[in-house]
Amino acid sequence: MPTKYWCKSMASSNHTRLVAVLGGCLLGLAACSATAIWHSDQPSAPPDVATGRRLYLASCAGCHGVRGDATGEIAASVFPPPRDFTRGEFRFRSTASGTLPTRADLARTIDLGLPGSAMPSWRGLLSDNEIASIVLFVETLSPRFAQEQRQPEDVILPADLSPVAATPELVTRGRDLYVKMGCGECHGAEGRGDGKAAATSRNSDGTVSHVFDFTYGVYKAGDAPIDVYRTFVTGLDGAPMPAFDQSLPEEADRWALVAYVLSLGRARGLTYYFSERPTWRDPMAANLEAARKTPAQPDATTTPAPESTPPRDDGW
Ligand code: HEC
Ligand code: HEC
Repeated sequence: MPTKYWCKSMASSNHTRLVAVLGGCLLGLAACSATAIWHSDQPSAPPDVATGRRLYLASCAGCHGVRGDATGEIAASVFPPPRDFTRGEFRFRSTASGTLPTRADLARTIDLGLPGSAMPSWRGLLSDNEIASIVLFVETLSPRFAQEQRQPEDVILPADLSPVAATPELVTRGRDLYVKMGCGECHGAEGRGDGKAAATSRNSDGTVSHVFDFTYGVYKAGDAPIDVYRTFVTGLDGAPMPAFDQSLPEEADRWALVAYVLSLGRARGLTYYFSERPTWRDPMAANLEAARKTPAQPDATTTPAPESTPPRDDGW
């Protein structure tokens, strides 16, 4: 229902009826989320690669490709294109630029998706345990995970990050830092993604890179202060977005920049969120249900899954 009609019925109010309707909606929502939780909360064995592979083929291969090389059936019609996992290069990490993401990083992306791109959020469709299995399978798609030992010190975000509340002074300080650090070269003087370097911006795989427009306000990596902090401190490997962990060492400076960048977002109305309703979830839920019921079996068209998860000592 368009927002203006909601507003109208609120204005000409019969309060009792409105309260009853709202109450009904809330109960409905509670029931839906309870169903979603129960639905995804399958009795769980420890995460394993074979389960991950089965769920990956059902849910991810259409975009990321059966072998993870971003050649799924609909990959060509998606922009930006799905990630090619065989390159072993990951944008959304808590680790230093050039290092592998942690398993928690991969799980976060799968759980929350990348808003504003085709990468969906799987929350409520896949349980945490199923996501953990998929992460194990994704790690078999690039040789980097077997070749490189991840180290705890790869994680460069402080464990006890506590965001500093935005004040007008902090925002002003952030604006100065935005200029000083050269964010505007790419993101533009007013943060509209139209800086000097934006026109020729390319990703490491040669595809066109769209510099982020801060006024758009829909962040792929999340729009909580802690998400924005993570993005510019660790950088987005594979995209021209650099890591500022070395050049911006002071916590106070980092939070000032977070406050400024977030202040550029425009507020969006309720209709925006309603129009984003993820209708794709119904067919995906049916796909997953079928995959869960299929017993594990070798598939001649894909690389066989390893017998067991290789042992690791990186603590995840
Ligand atoms: C409808 C297409 C689509 C489907 C289905 C899909 N993805 Fe994605 N995925 C994308 C796109 C597009 C991107 C890149 C978005 C960007 O960076 O702008 C992406 C990015 C990712 C990344 C980010 C890697 C990084 O750089 O940090 C991960 C991890 C990922 N997908 C995992 C999955 C998994 C696992 C599934 C299945 C559960 C899945 N995706 C299903 C389209 C899809
Ligand atoms: C050399 C160009 C360049 C510079 C300099 C640069 N960025 Fe970026 N930034 C990008 C590009 C390109 C993207 C989009 C990457 C993508 O989604 O593939 C991006 C994305 C981002 C995002 C992520 C938005 C999301 O979708 O989650 C944030 C936050 C960000 N930049 C902050 C900054 C800040 C703060 C600075 C300065 C300290 C900065 N950037 C400097 C190129 C740049």
